[in-house]
This record gives sequence, structure tokens and C-alpha cells, in this order.
Amino acid sequence: MRALIINCSPVRNGATARIAEIIGDELKSRYEIKNICIDDYSFAFCKGCRACHKTASCVMSDASVIRDIMNEFDAADIIVSVAPSYWADIPGQYKAFIDRCTPWCNTHEPHATIKPGKKGYAVALRTGPNMPECERLIGSIEHFYGHLEIERAGRLGLTSIEYKENVEPRKDEIISFCSTI
Ligand SMILES: Cc1cc2nc3c(=O)[nH]c(=O)nc-3n(C[C@H](O)[C@H](O)[C@H](O)COP(=O)(O)O)c2cc1C
Repeated sequence: MRALIINCSPVRNGATARIAEIIGDELKSRYEIKNICIDDYSFAFCKGCRACHKTASCVMSDASVIRDIMNEFDAADIIVSVAPSYWADIPGQYKAFIDRCTPWCNTHEPHATIKPGKKGYAVALRTGPNMPECERLIGSIEHFYGHLEIERAGRLGLTSIEYKENVEPRKDEIISFCSTI
């Protein structure tokens, strides 16, 4: 069984990366782990041309970059997206990736597909103290999973985290979440 763990932040060694690392450490006895960071990939914004609605493929010159990421989704049995709040939603880089996944979106026919039976987990963190903002991020991630027909299997919101140092005292919450995966 393979787990894809995505750092949805452009920061490679911040709080999000640390949470992704803890999750990987917890799951590695049960899953082969693949960690990626959205900043590992460089791609343009979706132009909204909707050519993919008719062809299930993207006409943009960097379409292979998005396909590479989707190949990682396809190779995984579970996907864990870990996203910090950037202005009360997922970081723009992850949103831009989701937009570019429109060829895979099940709202139009034909559409590209990944293999069925995958489970998706959403983890959100933020500096502020209240949970509804985390739920908003989780909603964005789960909306994406839904249109890829990935089962929405679990969610974790972590408030009051700014830097990776703030993650250590929360390790038990993250480990407890991992026990549900
Ligand atoms: C551009 C930017 C916008 C942010 N907006 C919010 C916000 O709206 N609400 C909040 O609670 N935290 C916000 N934060 C704080 C981050 O969610 C928090 O510091 C998180 O731990 C960052 O993780 P990272 O360093 O791995 O990206 C923002 C941080 C940045 C850099």
C-alpha cells in the first residue's frame, strides 16, 4: 500500500512540512511513503479555455507537469493533503494545481480518470485560534477529492500553529489522527 503525502505549502521546511514528516513517520510501517511539495513543480495557471471539457486533456504546453503529479495520485492508495491557511484558504499554489486538474474533473464527459478505490485525507493548519477557518481549507481539499472520486476518509484541523516549532507540542494530536488512517 502506498501513501502520497502532499505539502501544499510553498515552504519546504516550515510547519506544514513538519506535519507531513510526522504523518510519514507514523504511516511508514504500514505504507510505502511518497512525499511531495507543491513547490517541487512549476506550472502556469489554468486559462479556463475548457478545451479539456471536450477532450479530457489539457492544451497547455506544461500539461505533462500536472500529469506527473496525477501519476503520483494514481500510484497511491491514500492521499494526505496538508495545507496551511494562506488568507483563509489553501495556498494559491495548491489551488492553481487543482484548477489545472480540470481534465480529471467528473463534472464533464469525457474526463480523465485515476484508478478507483482511493482514500483522501485533509489536514489544515493555521496561526489563528478558531477552527472554522481550518474547516474551510478542508472543504476546499475535499471538494477536489470529491470530483476525482477519491473517498473523503478523514480530516484534521490544527489551530495556533505558525512555525514548525509550534508543531512539536501538537505531535500527539497528529499521531492520534494517523491511527485513524
Ligand atoms: C501569505 C500567508 C497568509 C497567511 N494567512 C493566514 C490566515 O489567513 N489565517 C491564519 O490563521 N494564518 C495565516 N497564515 C499563517 C500560516 O497559516 C501559518 O504560519 C502556517 O504554519 C504556515 O505554514 P508553512 O510555513 O508551512 O507555509 C498565513 C501565512 C502566510 C505566509
